[in-house]
Amino acid sequence: MKIVIAGGTGFIGGQLRKTLFSKGHEVVVLSRKPYQEFPSVVWDGKSSGEWQSAIEGADAVINLCGESIINGRWDMRRKKQIYDSRILPTRALVAALSQAKEKPKVLINASACGFYGDRDDEELSESSKPGDDFLGKLCVDWEREASIAQNLGVRTISLRMGIVLSREGGALRHLAFPFRLGIGGRLGSGRQWMSWIVLEDLISMILFLIDSQVFGPVNAVSPQPVRNSDFASLLAGMLKRPAWTFVPRWALGLGLGEVSAVLLSSQRAFPGKLEAAGFKFRFEDLSSALDFALNRH
Ligand SMILES: NC(=O)c1ccc[n+]([C@@H]2O[C@H](COP(=O)([O-])OP(=O)(O)OC[C@H]3O[C@@H](n4cnc5c(N)ncnc54)[C@H](OP(=O)(O)O)[C@@H]3O)[C@@H](O)[C@H]2O)c1
Repeated sequence: MKIVIAGGTGFIGGQLRKTLFSKGHEVVVLSRKPYQEFPSVVWDGKSSGEWQSAIEGADAVINLCGESIINGRWDMRRKKQIYDSRILPTRALVAALSQAKEKPKVLINASACGFYGDRDDEELSESSKPGDDFLGKLCVDWEREASIAQNLGVRTISLRMGIVLSREGGALRHLAFPFRLGIGGRLGSGRQWMSWIVLEDLISMILFLIDSQVFGPVNAVSPQPVRNSDFASLLAGMLKRPAWTFVPRWALGLGLGEVSAVLLSSQRAFPGKLEAAGFKFRFEDLSSALDFALNRH
């Protein structure tokens, strides 16, 4: 297959790119910088241009663009960067799809469980309503931009990813850091639910979805979300460190500002659509996931 990955240089996209290459697929990365190590085409992530020819006749376009949501406090300028770095590349890709003579069969566009906002113990499926905080509104707009491609005849999926766990880095490195120093613990009350997915399962899921008939929003999460306090205990146990301490909600708010919502919001999401389509997870429970991701083998 010919697969175009926008954001194919990042944490998820880089691993996806390597896996697709290893399986013998033709992969083209859209990036704002030129690369020699793999086939890439330069774009600016917002305007039309010659890069559009790269998507002609592709089997799939996968869009994983977006600036980190956790680096830096969310002032107005930062929020605009976070928003624009997701909305504008999606809009540019969909415009390119509308002009393509030979349209790709499927667009898989990143989204996040942040779509749901802060939902306490509610069990969240793909049909649950969105949250009304910054990330919730961002995800609604992001998914709306992507869904325009469905009306162009391109099967379109918005992948509502949970926290992606990997030995390659990402959120787990940040989450594990205080534990490695022996000062880790639950965040706030620790009652908030965390929806997570192992990177290897996420990549298998993307391959599965390319070949499926699934469309619309898809919860890209393991079937077993956990409370933050359970996550903290398990992580501490795996790292053989204590988890006796905790970071109060007010301290997170003081230190991180609005970004603390990412750590304190409760999202108990389930992968109903993936399971109905027959996807099989390699890592269903957090214990085996952390065991794998912390590289203990
Ligand atoms: N990692 C997670 O736990 C997680 C969870 C839920 C959702 N997600 C979402 O999944 C996507 C990928 O996440 P990731 O962790 O792989 O992110 P990442 O490592 O930060 O990579 C993001 C990619 O986005 C591109 N990018 C950044 N700013 C851009 C802009 N202004 N215009 C165009 N492209 C831009 C970069 O490509 P170039 O620099 O090569 O242009 C980079 O390859 C993001 O949208 C993220 O919100 C991630």
